[in-house]
Amino acid sequence: MMKVTAVYPGSFDPITNGHIYIAERAAAVFDEVIVSVLVNERKTSAFTVEERCVMARESLGHVKNITVDSFNGLLVDYVRQKNAGVIVRGLRAMSDFEYEFQMALMNRQLAPEIETFFIVTDPKYSYVSSSSVREIFHFGGTVRDVVPQGVYEKLSNRCCNP
Ligand code: PNS
Repeated sequence: MMKVTAVYPGSFDPITNGHIYIAERAAAVFDEVIVSVLVNERKTSAFTVEERCVMARESLGHVKNITVDSFNGLLVDYVRQKNAGVIVRGLRAMSDFEYEFQMALMNRQLAPEIETFFIVTDPKYSYVSSSSVREIFHFGGTVRDVVPQGVYEKLSNRCCNP
């Protein structure tokens, strides 16, 4: 049987426990999963692409069929280049759906042979987002329970928060 490789793309700025959950679920379904960090020069990020990749690698090292990579340009071009047939995205709530649906349709328009798969989050992560992690941390709140240990340490080293 042909192996199916899935790309799980995102900003991962930083990776959260919600992302880890989706990546693990994807790895249980697909033969190979490439977690790929978007290099976006137009969007200002808290962490560099290298830092985001390191954090993702550290927190997903326990899953054998996951690799971490980065990409720029169009997602569908990258997916084709990797010979992957699938894009994985996580869904937290209906509010995610509208944006995701539009993106999936646009990607299908660009590359009809690539399928987008949505994986539903665990309700316990339904409120977790990278942007809220960055904001809570910035204002001194604790994000220990919603990000992997390595990410928590990186955040703590970067700033002066306990
Ligand atoms: O974690 P994010 O920021 O929600 O991820 C968004 C991402 C990276 C999946 C999306 O912005 C993307 O695919 N960007 C690459 C450029 C592209 O292909 N755009 C067309 C998609 S409609």
